[in-house]
Amino acid sequence: MPDPTSAAGTETNGAALIDPLVFNPYDYDFHEDPYPTYRRLREEAPLYHNPDIGFWALSRHSDVQEAFKDNTRLSSANGVSLDPAAYGPHAHLVMSFLAMDDPRHMRLRQLVSRGFTPRRVTALGGRIHELSVQYLEPALASGEFDWISEVAGKLPMDVISELMGVPQPDRAELRRLADLVVHREDGVLDVPQASVESSITLMTYYKEMIEQRRKSRTDDLTSALLDAEIDGDKLSDQEILGFMFLMVVAGNETTTKLLGNALYWGGHNPGQVAQVLDDPERVSEWVEETLRYDTSSQIVARTTAVDIEYHGVTVPAGEKMLLLIGSANRDDDMFEDADEYRIGRDSTNKLASFGGGVHFCLGAHLARLEANIALKEFASRVREYEVDETGFERVHSTNVRGFAALPVKVQVR
Ligand code: HEM
Repeated sequence: MPDPTSAAGTETNGAALIDPLVFNPYDYDFHEDPYPTYRRLREEAPLYHNPDIGFWALSRHSDVQEAFKDNTRLSSANGVSLDPAAYGPHAHLVMSFLAMDDPRHMRLRQLVSRGFTPRRVTALGGRIHELSVQYLEPALASGEFDWISEVAGKLPMDVISELMGVPQPDRAELRRLADLVVHREDGVLDVPQASVESSITLMTYYKEMIEQRRKSRTDDLTSALLDAEIDGDKLSDQEILGFMFLMVVAGNETTTKLLGNALYWGGHNPGQVAQVLDDPERVSEWVEETLRYDTSSQIVARTTAVDIEYHGVTVPAGEKMLLLIGSANRDDDMFEDADEYRIGRDSTNKLASFGGGVHFCLGAHLARLEANIALKEFASRVREYEVDETGFERVHSTNVRGFAALPVKVQVR
């Protein structure tokens, strides 16, 4: 039996080793198209080990989904990114339950869920619609525009501001700061300068907002979090701040990238997206297939809390384990012809895109709502569109997948 963790490659009829399988999440060539590597990982090394960088990885749908549920043996408490810098520099500023284990995680998640309710999210639909139209109309009128800077890069952070109750005049500045918080250089967050400074400015702003709301409540999420209570237990200001920061880090860029990936893959599959441009009521099929085919949150990490055996190999306690979400979503064992972008699949309940188990994305409903509304408004105004193949710019990151710039040319109705 071949060594399932082998990074050495495949053997052909006992001949010399050829085409070694190397998985390096920092590699720019890998970012261009990670899917051939994911396929090889699933087929040749379902438990992969890269001792040089220092991680293990699970790539099959069944393994990734099981791992999400295995939150006692696979810990989130040392961060959920391969790159320790991704959350490390901000860790002293915030207490985020994304990177905690139960029972600490569950206490905070439950308290936050008292304020961040499905009903509050659904009630945002009208504002999301207004904002989408406000960004889309001037952009579409110009015929050619950058989808990221005009629409996709604005909507998610403005929706987060709307939720929290940030006054209108401050929102553009908060968007600028949030972009700097996740700014990347060579696939690594630009930690020392802009990122940390922007985090501090953003946190100071939110801190003042919490103090104001403590004195005088409104009907926003910030006020609801101050009032959230379970059996006398309440969130501290620091914990509310942690959640606000988590929304900015986990909910902003991922949704921007989802909107970008939808336009990119629709543009590359005109026959598929035509079904939605002809019938915008089918927009959710476009969103769901994009979430499967090229999801914006590709990789999350865990740390093994104990020795765990996968595919006959024991991974010792204390090791970094990557869960390859992007690969799970392309597993032919779960999705027929998984490498085909096919609008109209019924795959929602099988997607790995929002994680699983106790850390399942708290904002999945909001992300879907935003994408459905914005893309439906786009589809109902656009007859055809194409992506400018020379102008797009991919973000290089070990976990986030999508575009920093995506110029498109549209034919409106
Ligand atoms: C967790 C993906 C949008 C808030 C997660 C996780 C994934 C994910 C994979 C699990 C992480 C883990 O298990 O370590 C995405 C994607 C999004 C998106 C692909 C957009 C397309 C949002 C939005 C918000 C949000 C809009 C809120 C405004 C959260 C929170 C958690 C989380 C709070 C932590 C949950 C916990 O630890 O219990 N997200 N997310 N996400 N997400 Fe999202």
